[in-house]
Amino acid sequence: MLSPKLYKNSHAYDLFMRVFGFEASVERFLRATNTPPLVNGNILDNGCGSGTIGIHFLQASEQTTLLSTDLEPNFLDAALKKAKRRGIDGKSMSVGTANITAPDQVQTLDGHQYSLNPESFQLVCIGAVLGYSQDPSESLRTLVRLLAPGGFFFNLEMSETALGKYVCKRYHYDNISIEEMKAILRDEGCSVSQITMNLKYFPSCMTRTALIAQKR
Ligand SMILES: C[S@@+](CC[C@H](N)C(=O)[O-])C[C@H]1O[C@@H](n2cnc3c(N)ncnc32)[C@H](O)[C@@H]1O
Repeated sequence: MLSPKLYKNSHAYDLFMRVFGFEASVERFLRATNTPPLVNGNILDNGCGSGTIGIHFLQASEQTTLLSTDLEPNFLDAALKKAKRRGIDGKSMSVGTANITAPDQVQTLDGHQYSLNPESFQLVCIGAVLGYSQDPSESLRTLVRLLAPGGFFFNLEMSETALGKYVCKRYHYDNISIEEMKAILRDEGCSVSQITMNLKYFPSCMTRTALIAQKR
């Protein structure tokens, strides 16, 4: 069940997330967090997978745009399909490939490369992707620098439980610790809180934990 190939195949990943209730439990959790809805803002979701996190925040906001990026174009396709199923219009969401090692460098699906401007997002959200960076600390700093003052950073990160660590090992996910992330976020001028997911959010509570930061 935990084949590393899961993260290479967007359809298998999306199906796994839905059939085993991960997607629904992530969405229940996202609804329960008090990250304020945006009005007239920009959201960035790096390593978006099948798009769940960014699409949730987009749907909770008004007149806001979402840029979802992933290393694998087939995940972008899955994210766009999910957005379409949910009635999101093509103007409010765009996608591009980006490596979490340099998350501000994006390539559109037709090959145009561009850099994201510092302080141009009101929300940067990620989930279980930082550990794929060649330098997770530097990637985290780059992500925070993309946030406008007052903006939020949301990371639904792999937890440091025994099961979380096992899954990370299985998927060759080599991350810095949650405490190191908190220290970097504070150093970049953020206030930080961690929310441990309780059993209401089963099964994602088995492997994920949330870090929420606000840039001053
Ligand atoms: C565990 S999934 C997380 C998906 C989603 N963020 C979530 O929380 O459900 C990891 C995602 O990271 C992507 N990924 C893997 N290596 C990456 C890299 N170096 N840069 C950007 N994305 C990467 C994979 O394609 C996959 O979509």
